[in-house]
Amino acid sequence: MLFRIRKFEKADFDTLWQIDQACFDPQLAYSRPELAFYMRRPESFTLVAEGEAGGVLGFIVAETRRKSGHIITIDVVAEARRTGVGSALLHAAEDQLLRAGTTAVALETPVNNDAAIRFYKQKGYFVEKTVAGYYSGQLDALVMTKELAQSPVKL
Ligand SMILES: CC(C)(COP(=O)(O)OP(=O)(O)OC[C@H]1O[C@@H](n2cnc3c(N)ncnc32)[C@H](O)[C@@H]1OP(=O)(O)O)[C@@H](O)C(=O)NCCC(=O)NCCS
Repeated sequence: MLFRIRKFEKADFDTLWQIDQACFDPQLAYSRPELAFYMRRPESFTLVAEGEAGGVLGFIVAETRRKSGHIITIDVVAEARRTGVGSALLHAAEDQLLRAGTTAVALETPVNNDAAIRFYKQKGYFVEKTVAGYYSGQLDALVMTKELAQSPVKL
C-alpha cells in the first residue's frame, strides 16, 4: 500500500475521530473533546498516514513527558492493517521523540488487545507492568516500554 506520513492538519480532526470510533469499543474510544484535549496538549504531536488517493489510513498521537515519550494512541483503518502503516507511524513518532531528546517510550494497551500487544512486541516494546482497572475501572492495561537508541555524544 502506498502512503506517506505527514503532520496533522486541523481539517483532519473529524476523520481522525471517526477512525478512533471505528477502532475501539465505545468504552475505550475517545469522545471528541477527549481526543482534542490529548492532541492539543503542549508537548503532544499527531502524525497522519495518507494514502496515495488522499484518504487517511491511520494516525498516531504521541507526547514528550520530560525525558520520556508516551504513545497516546495509534489507529489504523481496518482495510489498511498489516500493510506497514502502523509500523511507519510508530517509527516516525519514535524518530520525532528521539529528536526531542527522549530516551524511552511508554504506552498503555488493554490486556485483551492481542493485535496491539503483538504489534508493540514486534517493535521492541516490553511489558513493564499491569495496571488494574486502568480503563474506566473495568479493564486492565499493560504498560509497555521501549528504550530509544541514542547516538553516541560527540566529545
Ligand atoms: C495495532 C495496529 C496499530 C497495527 O497497525 P498495522 O498497520 O496493522 O501494523 P503493521 O502492518 O505495521 O504490522 C507490523 C507487525 O506487527 C505485528 N502485527 C500487527 N497486527 C497484528 C495482528 N493483528 N496479529 C498479529 N501480529 C500483528 C506483525 O508482526 C506485523 O508484521 P507482519 O504483518 O509482517 O506479520 C492496528 O492493528 C490498529 O490500528 N488496531 C486498532 C487500534 C489499536 O488497537 N491501537 C492500539 C492502541 S493501544
